[in-house]
Amino acid sequence: MKKRVLTGIKPTGEQLHLGNYFWAIEPMVRFSKQPDLEMFMFIANLHALTALHDAASIRKNTYTIVKTYLACGLDPAHVHIYNQSDISAHVELMRVFACMTNLWFMKRMHAYKAAVDTGKEDDITMGTFNYPVLMASDILLYDPHIVPVGKDQKQHVEYARDVAQKFNHQFGDTFILPEPYIQESVATVPWIDGRKMSKSYNNYIGLFDDPETIRKKVARIPTDAIPVADPKDPETCNIFAIYKLFLDEIEQKKLADRYRAGGLSYKDLKAELSDRIISFTTPIIERYAAIDDQMVQDLLIEGAKHVAPRATAKIHDVYAKVGFSM
Ligand code: ADP
Ligand code: TRP
Repeated sequence: MKKRVLTGIKPTGEQLHLGNYFWAIEPMVRFSKQPDLEMFMFIANLHALTALHDAASIRKNTYTIVKTYLACGLDPAHVHIYNQSDISAHVELMRVFACMTNLWFMKRMHAYKAAVDTGKEDDITMGTFNYPVLMASDILLYDPHIVPVGKDQKQHVEYARDVAQKFNHQFGDTFILPEPYIQESVATVPWIDGRKMSKSYNNYIGLFDDPETIRKKVARIPTDAIPVADPKDPETCNIFAIYKLFLDEIEQKKLADRYRAGGLSYKDLKAELSDRIISFTTPIIERYAAIDDQMVQDLLIEGAKHVAPRATAKIHDVYAKVGFSM
């Protein structure tokens, strides 16, 4: 049996950034080249409604995400790509799980806690509150073995495992327990202020930033004031933290040696890093431009057609187990 890999991404941003690339796109592209895996990649548009009530943006962001994945090398012949909203079983399963999840448990979820921390608890929508329940349904509907996520999503995959176990225990074996796949080395792509690179903090380098913008952003990375001639510590340097994402182990070691040897100018290094990023993003931008909207629409329709029977079978099984089938 092929192992299944599944992940989802919200169409909430106008463009993806390097954090998204190293966290989500790169592993999916890598997995998509392995013939022994079956891959699911969906656009989490139902989740996007927690943040975005603007039809044109959701539509536009959906095109952008799919094109970006393809431009980065995701092979559509080996991945089911679909819109979450095309498969109604996501919401149906959510209802079942919602009835098996206690309030105190949901209140521990960090998405909820982050919303509470803004001091406006009463303004939290039920969509935001329920979001881990929908995410568990997104996952468990397809019995994936591996779920690539950013570090901040680990808790949600753990909740999915918990609710799956609870269901299996109460109603009999139904769901596979998924494992989160988190690449520790890029679990959080940092940026200028030490915070993670994020759309929300507007501190990111976009995959589609033009060279001028990339150079400007890299120039703003703060560094220490150690003189050029003196040895420096790569591990505490923000430039190194970004640069190493583009380097293999040997290259990383060479760069670390340059830090320790002294004589390294941060200004030169920033120019070098900018060049590296630009030569990385340029071919992606070119391939992106060659993909048209029709191709994305066709892919999403095909993808939904492929996954629908599996999702339908699963929800029928669940409905039968809870007592809905006559
Ligand atoms: P953003 O933080 O840019 O607003 P989202 O909140 O939409 O992005 O996050 C989408 C996914 O991307 C999340 O699962 C998150 O774990 C991952 N992610 C976002 N930024 C980074 C980053 N800098 N490093 C690693 N993963 C990230
Ligand atoms: N919550 C995820 C995020 O914010 C997106 C997501 C929704 C997801 N459903 C999922 C990721 C299922 C993996 C599996 O990035």
